[in-house]
Amino acid sequence: MLLGKCFLCNLWLLMFIAIAIINCEAWRIGRAATHWRTIYVGHSGSGKFTSIQTAIDSVPSNNDNWVRIYVEAGVYREQVKVPRDKQFIELTGKGKWNTSVVWNACERLDTSATFTVYADNFVARDISFVNSHNYPWNPRVPRKPAVAALIEGDKNSFYRCGFVGLQDTLWDSVGRHYFHRCSIVGAVDFIFGAGQSIYEGCVISFNGAALQGPGYITAQARGDEKDPSGFVFKDCVVVGTGWTYLGRPWRPYARVIFYNSTFSGIIVPAGWDPWIASSNVNNLVFAEKFCHGPGSYSRDRIKWESRLNEDQLQEFTSISYIDNEGWIGRQPFNMLAD
Ligand SMILES: *[C@@H]1O[C@H](CO)[C@@H](O)[C@H](O)[C@H]1NC(C)=O
Ligand SMILES: *[C@@H]1O[C@H](CO)[C@@H](O)[C@H](O)[C@H]1NC(C)=O
Repeated sequence: MLLGKCFLCNLWLLMFIAIAIINCEAWRIGRAATHWRTIYVGHSGSGKFTSIQTAIDSVPSNNDNWVRIYVEAGVYREQVKVPRDKQFIELTGKGKWNTSVVWNACERLDTSATFTVYADNFVARDISFVNSHNYPWNPRVPRKPAVAALIEGDKNSFYRCGFVGLQDTLWDSVGRHYFHRCSIVGAVDFIFGAGQSIYEGCVISFNGAALQGPGYITAQARGDEKDPSGFVFKDCVVVGTGWTYLGRPWRPYARVIFYNSTFSGIIVPAGWDPWIASSNVNNLVFAEKFCHGPGSYSRDRIKWESRLNEDQLQEFTSISYIDNEGWIGRQPFNMLAD
């Protein structure tokens, strides 16, 4: 018999078992979920940070408990970076049109981003990232690459966020990413990079008024056949004015899939532009399946558009494409929670 006669011994034994169970449980649901801390950023009130970056700087290196940085409504004029060693941050605003981070750097892709995340395990919700160099559009200001957000961490997710710019708005650079009910605004290559991402229920707004010719929604950068990256747009809506291609390849194995999405009549009938892959389009995966609206399925689509079979569709459009280990469900905010 495990329990002896000594009362104190029994107590110690039971406590030991209880602590072991609690630890295992904490480990099972992911480190983090057990501890929570919220810090506040705002322009009013005292005892708060007045910039988002100082709040991020206050999170210790190698942090492993979720920290929610709650940002009051307002416009925050700063460049914000989440460094690699500050994981488990959730940045939460008061709504994507109420809380925004705005900066206007341009020219160089790697330094222009208003917001950059290098850390794994990052969540943002209800906040917008704006590069105002060409936004709102003013014909007297030359069009330049001007990144609103650069996403470089693995397991990064965004809920009801805005990404606003004109050229190169959202640099979905590398890592597995989930975008849920976000809005993305731009005109040229405005969702680009080698991220492995699902965009679900997002609104893509194309601003053709700023261009002479057609624009490009995506410029995906899958580099070779082993590269798992790709952009999957599921249940999305594409709206705007002017004319745009669905995408063009930034690298020779680019992969972009629009699934069950609705296109207003702004899509160039050819659909896709071969750009850097003009001499060999066979390695591209550009597909549309179950899409609706006047911009979908023209008879004049390029002949090399991919026809995915059931298995391939299943592979890319189910959440396991970016998450076969359950990280999305373990993050403090997820689609099931709210
Ligand atoms: C954004 O601000 C408006 C006006 O203050 C408010 O009515 C709305 O509820 C806010 N949105 C969110 C998501 O809090
Ligand atoms: C297609 O998208 C709509 C939302 O736009 C959603 O309500 C519907 O369930 C989706 N259908 C499929 C088959 O995924």
